[in-house]
Amino acid sequence: MTQQTAGLAGVIVGTTAISTVGKEGVGLTYRGYDIHDLAKHCLFEEVAYLLIYGKLPNRQELNHYQKKLSSLRELPADLKTSLELIPQQTNPMDVLRTACSLLGTLEPESNKLKQTDIADRLLARMPGILLYWYHFHHNGTRIQTETHELTLASHFLHLLTRKKPNPQHVITVNTSFILYAEHEFNASTFAARVTVSTLSDFYSGITSAIGTLRGPLHGGANEAAMECISTFRTPSDAEIGIKKMLAEKKKMMGFGHRVYKISDPRSDIIKQQSAQLAKDHSEGYFHSVAERIEQVMWNEKKLFPNLDFYSATAYHFCGIPTHFFTPLFVFSRLSGWSAHIFEQRQDNRLIRPEADYVGEKQRAFMPLSERK
Ligand code: ACO
Repeated sequence: MTQQTAGLAGVIVGTTAISTVGKEGVGLTYRGYDIHDLAKHCLFEEVAYLLIYGKLPNRQELNHYQKKLSSLRELPADLKTSLELIPQQTNPMDVLRTACSLLGTLEPESNKLKQTDIADRLLARMPGILLYWYHFHHNGTRIQTETHELTLASHFLHLLTRKKPNPQHVITVNTSFILYAEHEFNASTFAARVTVSTLSDFYSGITSAIGTLRGPLHGGANEAAMECISTFRTPSDAEIGIKKMLAEKKKMMGFGHRVYKISDPRSDIIKQQSAQLAKDHSEGYFHSVAERIEQVMWNEKKLFPNLDFYSATAYHFCGIPTHFFTPLFVFSRLSGWSAHIFEQRQDNRLIRPEADYVGEKQRAFMPLSERK
């Protein structure tokens, strides 16, 4: 493979009208709306509606959409039984991937169950899936997966803590969901598009995407970033530790980006949330540690934090266990994945690139009896 095409960097593989980072790779818009405006003014449900249905909802449409999502939160009995069978030590991303695949057998895509309905069902149910499995195995309880909470952020936090969530935590999680919702032809979205380009079903597309998001070079970076940040108690410890890591040619997760060259426009938005929450948290020093890591990474490598870096400390301050960070990315990105599946299907052509063959030239076949 030539250097220019390694990892498909810089290769345009299709068109999209859903989001763009712009030609200079500096901003981010969803269907033309700047991410800063969406993060400041919207509920995640407005953004999900924008991605899935193509327009920002008016008040009535939003109320109706929130009611629809709330009404879909109950899990099918067979899904709950299966969640009870998934081992306690399973990676939560594997729980979501398996549950998505299983839902494809219980409620398959059909003329009666349209793609938009499946998208809404998955959005509504993923927090309940994760937390039903979690509470069953860790606390021995079979929780109700319905709550009276109107937003996905408050619903998730309520299911996690089993009580009315802290309003500041709801704001932070809602903001992070908006920032995580969509990002053009990233690896997991591309995986979903490749899968449905074969005319496979909606659930297969999302299952591929979840499996792709799981890795630390993509969605898994927020968990890896927190694991690293939490090994330091002070900014000076962090400075020494990160310089040592860089000297050993190790990667600091949560830094760098394939598309952005100067900064990730989502990072400062979530960094503000992290700074705010740090003030009242007993481990608020993790935010100062993170800021020093940011400084060192810029001075040493000219690398900037991506969305995953300060999402890690922000989520930690909200009391969210580290191994749930990437699943939270799923709860939100389901909206972007769905929009891309619809778009791919609208004007489908099988995605099937070619490879630059670098293997053996054609050679004479040797029967088994003659091989040494
Ligand atoms: N820490 C240390 N060095 C880095 C980092 C990092 N986080 N990111 C890039 N570099 C270095 C590489 O080592 C490489 O150096 P070299 O040329 O001396 O070998 C150079 O910068 C280019 O890096 P690549 O990995 O080739 O860049 P690519 O565009 O392929 O990768 C990626 C982008 C995967 C995001 C990369 O920056 C990375 O691995 N970051 C850490 C993982 C991460 O945070 N992923 C989250 C992505 S954003 C998201 O999913 C929301």
